[in-house]
Amino acid sequence: MQNKTWTTRDIPNLSGKVAIITGANSGLGFESALEMARKGAIVILAVRNLGRGRAALDKITTELEGGSLEQMKLDLSDQESIKQFVNDFNQKYDRLDILLNNAGIMAVPQGKTAQGFELQLGVNHLGHFALTGLLMDKLLSTPGSRVVNVSSKAANGGKMNFDDLMSEEKYSPIGAYSQSKLANLLFTFELQRRLEEVGAGTIALAAHPGGSKTNLANASDFGPFFRFIMNNFMMKLVQEAEKGALPQLFAATAPDAKPAQYYGPNGFMEMRGSHPKEADIPSQALNAEDARKLWEISEKLTAVSYGFLEKKPSLI
Ligand SMILES: NC(=O)c1ccc[n+]([C@@H]2O[C@H](COP(=O)([O-])OP(=O)(O)OC[C@H]3O[C@@H](n4cnc5c(N)ncnc54)[C@H](OP(=O)(O)O)[C@@H]3O)[C@@H](O)[C@H]2O)c1
Repeated sequence: MQNKTWTTRDIPNLSGKVAIITGANSGLGFESALEMARKGAIVILAVRNLGRGRAALDKITTELEGGSLEQMKLDLSDQESIKQFVNDFNQKYDRLDILLNNAGIMAVPQGKTAQGFELQLGVNHLGHFALTGLLMDKLLSTPGSRVVNVSSKAANGGKMNFDDLMSEEKYSPIGAYSQSKLANLLFTFELQRRLEEVGAGTIALAAHPGGSKTNLANASDFGPFFRFIMNNFMMKLVQEAEKGALPQLFAATAPDAKPAQYYGPNGFMEMRGSHPKEADIPSQALNAEDARKLWEISEKLTAVSYGFLEKKPSLI
């Protein structure tokens, strides 16, 4: 199936497949959960608030008149919650076909995770890095499994500030968001490189939704000028969440989706579109040295080491 015409109708039958979607109670995660459940997947809504998770789950089961879904608590701003989530998941499931690392926060006021990481890097990148690492055995033992990381056009303006990764010396809400979304891409490409080195069947790829109407900007601290631009111009350009979710649904389910590829909307400046396309990858996301450095720092900070590398000690 060509992605030029691809829509949710082209999602293959997912019966028997197990998918975890982080942040599945809202926006793009919700749309992804709905469409994957519609095609028969067993979908785990990984949510930080079980009340909001229950409301989303009920909405999907009502719409589908059924579906195999359940929610499990996951707070990506706390490494203990991530470990607990993986324990809960492992006790119930013996396979993991799709890990959709979708949850995110954008341009929030300065804050810290439970372990003291800058909040946006902590939730958007380090939380997903730890989650993926802890689920790696399950992914590796599931034929054809995928890890999909949801990035953003904001990554194009991103810069890895390794000298002040946690923005302690200088904090900019948008700068920290852009850095975290660039980290999503660097992580994707480095993960794919490492998976390939050990000949794993699991693939890593990424997607971005352009601009989509979700709850993402509700907690943002843009400052008065950018907030005015957002409310008066950008919000008029953005598309519905169901369209924004298409690239990540393509990456997560299409047989044609390729490893280390990045998918986005096919319309004006990749900000909107009715079908997914291969997105432009910002040059700084292809910096293999930064990717390796970020990986090593992420392993140290989260204390999560990727088990599959143990098979090839020369890589560590
Ligand atoms: N919307 C856009 O235009 C746009 C553009 C580019 C990229 N993106 C990316 O798309 C992804 C999805 O965002 P969205 O637009 O769908 O926004 P959204 O409607 O706000 O959904 C974000 C989801 O992430 C969850 N989340 C936030 N912090 C979390 C934490 N600590 N632990 C676990 N879950 C957490 C939220 O939970 P609560 O509901 O409990 O807050 C919510 O379910 C994000 O990665 C975002 O960066 C979106």
